Amino acid sequence: MVRLSSTLCVLMLISIANGAADFDSGLGDLCYTCVCSADKTSIDCSRRGLTDLPDGFNSQVTKLNLSNNEFNTFPRNLHTFYNLVSLDISGNRLNELPQDALFNLTALEELNLSRNYFESWMSLNPNEAFQPTTSLKTLDLSNNKFKTMGNLANRELIISSSIETLILERCEIDSIHGRSPLSGLSNIKSLKLNSNPLIRIQSIISSTLKSLDVSNCALSTINHNELMYLPSLIYLKMSHNYRLELSSTAYNLFSDSLKYLDISYCNVLQPNLQGFPNLRRAILNHNMIRFLRSNEFVNNTMLEYLDLSYNNIGSLKSDTFRGLTLIKYLDLSWNEIANIPEDTLLEMPSLTQIKLSRNYLTNVGHLKSDSVTVLDMSSCEISSIGQDSLEGLQSLVDLDLSRNLLSHIPDSISSNTLKYLNLNYNRLSFVNNYTFFMLPRLIGLSVIGNRFTTIWRRSYFESNPYLERLDLSDNMWRCDCVDGNMYDFYEYVTLEPSKKEESYNLVCNSPITLIGQTWLEACYFVWNPTEKIPNPEGLIWFITVMIVGLTVCLLLVNCIKRSMHRRLAAIQAERERQVEEARDRLRQLRMRAEQEALCNTPDPRDLIAPPSYDEALSMPKVSASCHSLNETGTGKTKRKRGRRKTKSSGDLLEETERNGDVPVLEDIEISEASNGRRRHRPRREISRYGSHEVAELEQSPGARRRRMSEYNAEYDSPNDDNTTVEVQAELERPLRPRLRRYSNDDIRESDF
Ligand SMILES: *[C@@H]1O[C@H](CO)[C@@H](O)[C@H](O)[C@H]1NC(C)=O
Ligand SMILES: *[C@@H]1O[C@H](CO)[C@@H](O)[C@H](O)[C@H]1NC(C)=O
Ligand SMILES: *[C@@H]1O[C@H](CO)[C@@H](O)[C@H](O)[C@H]1NC(C)=O
Ligand SMILES: *[C@@H]1O[C@H](CO)[C@@H](O)[C@H](O)[C@H]1NC(C)=O
Ligand SMILES: *[C@@H]1O[C@H](CO)[C@@H](O)[C@H](O)[C@H]1NC(C)=O
Repeated sequence: MVRLSSTLCVLMLISIANGAADFDSGLGDLCYTCVCSADKTSIDCSRRGLTDLPDGFNSQVTKLNLSNNEFNTFPRNLHTFYNLVSLDISGNRLNELPQDALFNLTALEELNLSRNYFESWMSLNPNEAFQPTTSLKTLDLSNNKFKTMGNLANRELIISSSIETLILERCEIDSIHGRSPLSGLSNIKSLKLNSNPLIRIQSIISSTLKSLDVSNCALSTINHNELMYLPSLIYLKMSHNYRLELSSTAYNLFSDSLKYLDISYCNVLQPNLQGFPNLRRAILNHNMIRFLRSNEFVNNTMLEYLDLSYNNIGSLKSDTFRGLTLIKYLDLSWNEIANIPEDTLLEMPSLTQIKLSRNYLTNVGHLKSDSVTVLDMSSCEISSIGQDSLEGLQSLVDLDLSRNLLSHIPDSISSNTLKYLNLNYNRLSFVNNYTFFMLPRLIGLSVIGNRFTTIWRRSYFESNPYLERLDLSDNMWRCDCVDGNMYDFYEYVTLEPSKKEESYNLVCNSPITLIGQTWLEACYFVWNPTEKIPNPEGLIWFITVMIVGLTVCLLLVNCIKRSMHRRLAAIQAERERQVEEARDRLRQLRMRAEQEALCNTPDPRDLIAPPSYDEALSMPKVSASCHSLNETGTGKTKRKRGRRKTKSSGDLLEETERNGDVPVLEDIEISEASNGRRRHRPRREISRYGSHEVAELEQSPGARRRRMSEYNAEYDSPNDDNTTVEVQAELERPLRPRLRRYSNDDIRESDF
């Protein structure tokens, strides 16, 4: 949001500045709304939500961009821009082009009307509208809904002698009818009809058309004479017509002029290129071609580039490519070729590059060619290569045999020209002094992902003086650091100036202790013995440093420990002090309470604690007077009077609790928690009960026993012992010294 508004601000500022500077030239309004270039020749009004062109005229403007606005009608005041060269009004809502729309635009070369709402040719006024624009070269009408392309009594003809490129991409055109719809375009060079649901392309007649794009349509057949009326056609693109076949052998499609043919991604069963004697480049990949006949391309003597990849070609004959005297590039990859006759390539004396990857080849064979420099046989099923396999390929420079099944390279495989040999991802495990002996020009050798274990030797490359690059990674090297050869080869491969491989690509795979380490990591100390056994002086120095370091470390640790201790002790002391304070306060309160109580010495029988309120409720009815029951209640008045000592000590606890005395509260909570049977009760009551109980237990064993039996009766516990044990355990628990001390106090109190 912020960025947008700041951009707008800047734009407005620029526009204002421009407007101020341009008052006299009349561009004021336009440059206020749109973005004008510094020299005012280019105005960008795209994406401004405009429905009409702002006022202002300028003869300087050569480029006007009105795309992506909301124009319903063609802007009327355009004739003031009489030097306009490029007008982009795409992405609007135009459905009509008035007769005089382009009046006075004599300099206009490019008009973009794509993505508008045109639905018929008549609404373009095609006969008249383009008459004034005598320089118009490119007319883009793509993404409209013309539906057809016709010539209704000549009224649908675009008449222009200057238009060279007509773009009718994605216009939902499914048929071309009438007499040639191009007859009004006397200078048309390029017609783009791609991405229309076209079934036929008959009736396209033009003596000047050079390029026709009908890719991604719905073409299924082309009559043999359909290109006859396009005598200048050079470039024909028919790819992605999934049903399209080239016509049968009897009547071949014919074009004398055609040089470039793209018919990839179609349904071609036979190349049938005989009718194109001047063809230079033929792209036939992703079709259904199953076989190639003898002399299939005999009339395509001019062909230089032939792509037959991604077909189902099963076999080649030695005369299949006869006559292709100028061909340079042949792609036969992704087919089903199992065997290539030795002489096949000899028919193509100019062939330099041939791709045979992803076929069913099982051996390299003995191909012969004087011209082939690049041979790609990767990803086949090649398991053998003969010593003399490459001898027939007199110019071979680059051989790719990667991703095959080779497990052995014969000694002295020879080629006087080979520079790059790719053997990646095979099953090779062994090479020797003679393997590369007869490859004197070798520059790059790659054996990534093979099964080599024994470290190579420098001597393998004694006769390869030009070797610059060795790719050895992803092999299972067995590292024997003590073996002098390993170090020697490592040096040979990685040392500047003739470095051939990065040292991090050399990784040990055995012995087990060295798996995953690079050669250098694994053998560093063997190869640099001086670093392994340090001299005595160094050792002493090292030990001294270690000792000093250790001492410092120990001191530091001690220091930290001590300070921690101190801090802990301080905290502990503080805690104890607080606890002591709390106790004192408690004691004072209790003393006061005792003094009060003195005036009211209780009957010893009353020392039996009354049941709590809840208990009382759940107790069986006793034959006692209402008066006595009332007396056991915990009414505030009773407590105030402090009739019983235990009662008052409970009150005291409560009071301290209310005072927020933390240690005491903690104790109460502990006693609560241990009083498992009562855990479901509200906390306050329990704490009171707990203190009662303890006080009472400490007072007299007889009373305790009596209480216990009451308990049992009350809860009808199946296991009497449990309760006793529980209570006993509670008493024995050493964790609550303070609680016990309260009891002690109580004893003292009662003694008192
Ligand atoms: C007009 O502006 C749009 C951006 O809205 C841009 O994509 C298009 O290329 C411009 N047209 C020309 C002819 O520069
Ligand atoms: C048409 O263009 C000429 C220059 O070529 C110019 O002088 C004239 O004013 C323009 N007509 C209109 C109506 O703008
Ligand atoms: C016309 O404008 C569209 C965008 O609306 C653009 O894709 C197309 O390339 C333009 N045509 C030309 C010939 O520049
Ligand atoms: C191939 O070319 C020869 C002349 O070189 C011609 O007679 C023959 O008709 C052509 N074949 C086809 C199928 O066009
Ligand atoms: C390989 O060549 C080197 C040096 O020329 C030689 O010392 C070594 O014995 C040879 N190895 C074999 C197996 O011939």
